[in-house]
Amino acid sequence: MLAKIEQLLQEIEGLNAQNTEELESFRIKYLSKKGIINALMADFRNIPAEQKKEVGMKLNELKNRMQARFTELKEKLDTQDNSAVEFDLTRTSYPIELGSRHPLNIVRNEIIDIFHRMGFTIADGPEIEDDWHVFSSMNFPEDHPARDMQDTFFIESHPDIILRTHTSSVQSRVMETSQPPIRVICPGRVYRNEAISYRAHCFFHQIEGLYVDKNVSFTDLKQVLLQFAKEMFGAQTKIRLRPSYFPFTEPSAEMDISCDICGGTGCAFCKYTGWVEILGCGMVDPAVLDANGIDSKIYTGYAFGMGVERITNLKYKVKDLRMFSENDIRFLKEFEAAN
Ligand code: DAH
Repeated sequence: MLAKIEQLLQEIEGLNAQNTEELESFRIKYLSKKGIINALMADFRNIPAEQKKEVGMKLNELKNRMQARFTELKEKLDTQDNSAVEFDLTRTSYPIELGSRHPLNIVRNEIIDIFHRMGFTIADGPEIEDDWHVFSSMNFPEDHPARDMQDTFFIESHPDIILRTHTSSVQSRVMETSQPPIRVICPGRVYRNEAISYRAHCFFHQIEGLYVDKNVSFTDLKQVLLQFAKEMFGAQTKIRLRPSYFPFTEPSAEMDISCDICGGTGCAFCKYTGWVEILGCGMVDPAVLDANGIDSKIYTGYAFGMGVERITNLKYKVKDLRMFSENDIRFLKEFEAAN
């Protein structure tokens, strides 16, 4: 056995590994359970007692040096300098995939641009709001059934903190910090506790408009909305205003545009009416002006609010609202041309 150990000790320095496969073969051959060193260890039992000390020492030396050589080769491979490998520096790199704008952002920007040209600036407010800005300051009395119109997400431990159900809350935020003339649009995300389906979601996007000054009239509102509809949907577009109810406006109206699929003659899209609804609007209720620190004896105002998903659907005929938030790249890529 001593001779065998000596021979292996001689061999150690000459053992090499050019790659990880060779290193693994090295390990299996010498250091694994069924490897040479373990076999020698097993044989050690048969060595006569008087030789045990000498052979044992040699065997340990062999084992340690073999292990050390293995570690050395492994480190060498790990830090191997690749300069010998040839790189083709002229090869073109992988193509960089360009993203595209989300359809809702395309439409939102278009709406913002139109109102921007008419002198509106952008205002912003928080998505996590309090009852005052979403409801009370907008003339929703406590226990008024109008609150049921909006299925609100409440934070259980703090019922005064809610996710805003409409961007009308930003009207209140703007009025409480500034005095007329006020002419803002407020784009943002809103939340409602709705069962998710192809035509409803628990979050969506709105754009709110607010104009407060001396002598602002319903005529101004109608003209601005007509101009918006023509720029957004084409010069041939007609609008109509139907009486409606919102707690924060008096009088209130809903606005329809002539169906751009059938041109107003009636089709499945407009349910054969020739009109499709696009927004709510009205004259700001004097109670809302007063609640937000603006003197309703001096000033009047109009407001409007529209859903970005709704307008995007009208422009691009997206049948299922859920598509907007599923991040399916195939859907998003369809809007590349509109970017
Ligand atoms: N806040 C309303 C909603 O979420 C939309 C709306 C209607 C906003 C009339 C307005 C308005 O500013 O005047 O349904």
